[in-house]
Amino acid sequence: VTAEKGGFDHFMLKEIHEQPKAYRDTMLGRIDEKTHKVVFPNLNMTPEYIRSIRQIHIVACGTAYHAGLVGGSVIEQLIRVPVSFEVASEYRYRNPIITPDTLVIVVSQSGETADTLAGLREAQANGAHVLAITNVVGSSIARDANDVIATLAGPEIAVASTKAYTSQIIAFNLLGLYMADIRGTMEASEIAHVIAAMQSLPEQVESLLAQSESIKAYAEHISKHEHLFFIGRGLDYAVAMEGSLKLKEISYIHSEAYAAGELKHGTLALIEEGIPVIALATQDALLEKTVSNIKEVKARGAEVMAITYEEHVADLMRSVDQVFAIPKTLPLLMPALSVVPLQLLAYYASLALGHDVDKPRNLAKSVTVE
Ligand code: G6P
Repeated sequence: VTAEKGGFDHFMLKEIHEQPKAYRDTMLGRIDEKTHKVVFPNLNMTPEYIRSIRQIHIVACGTAYHAGLVGGSVIEQLIRVPVSFEVASEYRYRNPIITPDTLVIVVSQSGETADTLAGLREAQANGAHVLAITNVVGSSIARDANDVIATLAGPEIAVASTKAYTSQIIAFNLLGLYMADIRGTMEASEIAHVIAAMQSLPEQVESLLAQSESIKAYAEHISKHEHLFFIGRGLDYAVAMEGSLKLKEISYIHSEAYAAGELKHGTLALIEEGIPVIALATQDALLEKTVSNIKEVKARGAEVMAITYEEHVADLMRSVDQVFAIPKTLPLLMPALSVVPLQLLAYYASLALGHDVDKPRNLAKSVTVE
């Protein structure tokens, strides 16, 4: 059994460590080294169709939905088309406005989630082109979609999704660059710049994984608490949501993810002496604002751990209790790095509490009922 776990104690830890490879595999064959552009030779979407897209719906559940929050925000920035984010179990019951110039992107690790499949069918019945980002090429969702981008992360066994989430983020970035090129919203040099940064990610994840011990110590501390908060702005907020979900899924510690600027509109009432707050602060343009939100919780007794990159460590140390430094990349790629310490945090907290890390109570890897 340890053999199939590649020497790791749990599938989840193995899969966390497989992320550098998953990033490489998801990029493999999709970057033209001569032109420094993204290529998707097998997509059915024509350049004319890509130029005609007026809105994008992203439909998914759970962690795949969180990857959609990150990926959709990136695409919106790169191609300047409005993107809406839809929890699949809600999507088709709210009579969504789907037109032929709506691209619907469904995201699913397993490709078998019933709610997501139902969303796909609703979209197609209304004439939309459906593109699936999935890890299982022969799945129901892959079969029924009009286009498929396979994430190539390899089989994911642990119920808590890790490498599938990050490889979905990579796939979204590739898709965004591909569409930006066709729609002319980015210069070739800008595209090449993002691609170069993406190609450094696997190595950067390796260096993050080498610092697992410090996250482990923090996780043991966290495991003694009943409630905690994750805060962030922009893409940091999307990652906060995934970090919070991961922790709840396998450690059963209650946590909430909050848009840092929204805390003061109610949730600040829950901040009391000693409550841990994990603040993601990787987005340069929003850093100052996030720091002022950190001060709000500090003033009410919270114990804050910030995740940021090296350049800001010294600065942040003045307002928080601890800092975990991640390597620097472009702001839009930060989620591919900042989520890794949060995955490790959930893993080690679950371990410290003696839970079944790979098979949390009440949850299934793939949910085929609506
Ligand atoms: C289940 C799993 C989650 C997963 C969600 C969507 O609830 O426990 O980890 O994110 O399904 O799964 P999918 O295979 O569609 O990505």
